[in-house]
Amino acid sequence: MTTRIELCSADAVAEGAALKVETNGLALAVFNVDGEFYVTDDLCTHGPGSLSEGYIEGDVVECNFHNGQFNIRTGEVISPPCMIPIKTYPTRVENGKVVIDI
Ligand code: FES
Repeated sequence: MTTRIELCSADAVAEGAALKVETNGLALAVFNVDGEFYVTDDLCTHGPGSLSEGYIEGDVVECNFHNGQFNIRTGEVISPPCMIPIKTYPTRVENGKVVIDI
């Protein structure tokens, strides 16, 4: 069974930016890549970095701790020292809200 979670207003995340949202025991990063929304875990798989505070270039986020990089759309590792992909969540916008199912 899945749980529908409203994370934030789509207006709250500008293109090329990210927002940290904590809900349901999760710490998530909501990204706006060219008007499309993507949600990943906020915590870097390599350490204490918060990806919502990382540097965003297109669909890549660079952790501001040791500069590892992930693809925002797929979660795959783009650049070390990260080795483990970041978890991603199927994301949609409903009535102006960013929504995921967990
Ligand atoms: S904590 Fe993110 S790259 Fe090390």
